[in-house]
Amino acid sequence: MRGKFITLEGPEGSGKSTQAKILIRRLAACGIEAIYTREPGGTALGEEIRNILQHNQAGEAPCERAELLLFEASRSQLVEKVIRPHLERGVWVISDRFMDSTTAYQGYGRGLPVDEVQAIHHFTVNNVIPDLTLLLDLEIGAGFQRVTLRYLALGESADRFEQEDRFFHEKVRSGYLKLAAAEPDRFRIINAAQEPDAVATSIWNRIADAFKLSV
Ligand code: TMP
Repeated sequence: MRGKFITLEGPEGSGKSTQAKILIRRLAACGIEAIYTREPGGTALGEEIRNILQHNQAGEAPCERAELLLFEASRSQLVEKVIRPHLERGVWVISDRFMDSTTAYQGYGRGLPVDEVQAIHHFTVNNVIPDLTLLLDLEIGAGFQRVTLRYLALGESADRFEQEDRFFHEKVRSGYLKLAAAEPDRFRIINAAQEPDAVATSIWNRIADAFKLSV
């Protein structure tokens, strides 16, 4: 049987990576094999594109449409090299961001036409659509506090997207909420302001319910 494809989405600092890893452990405890992927990245080519996109490795910031197409190139490679083959083998795939990130950031955030952005996804993902998308929703100020604490602890600095102003990130957040409202069957909104354990429980309850898992 084909594996399930679950994506985690949300603004900066909403805890997607942490929650993806907790979810994979919980699935393993139920006997379900699942892998973690992230976007942009997840393949050798994708990780190169990630460095260009987030850290300006090419020495020149991409224009808005080039930025969008670089995300799509990374995604296409991830779909064909990792996601599709695993799903076909019955492995579940948990992706830390996917196509809805591009609609939220490049569409609603940058202001590229959302219907055109979604038409490009259609071409890129080539029928690999998430079975369920968990939107970890969080107020922008709270997310940035978490990101700042993380960077202080790691001694790193903010990437190109995190340096965008609050208005940009508010547009991203409200864009995500519009996407969730437009596709209620695929999306579940999770309150990411809760403590990590409570977020993990909310996520697990939604997954168990959506895929009829006995917990
Ligand atoms: P993250 O891995 O820390 O979430 O960083 C990825 C950054 O790239 C984040 O700021 C969101 C941004 N992004 C887009 O703008 N569009 C996309 O399609 C994806 C996948 C990420």
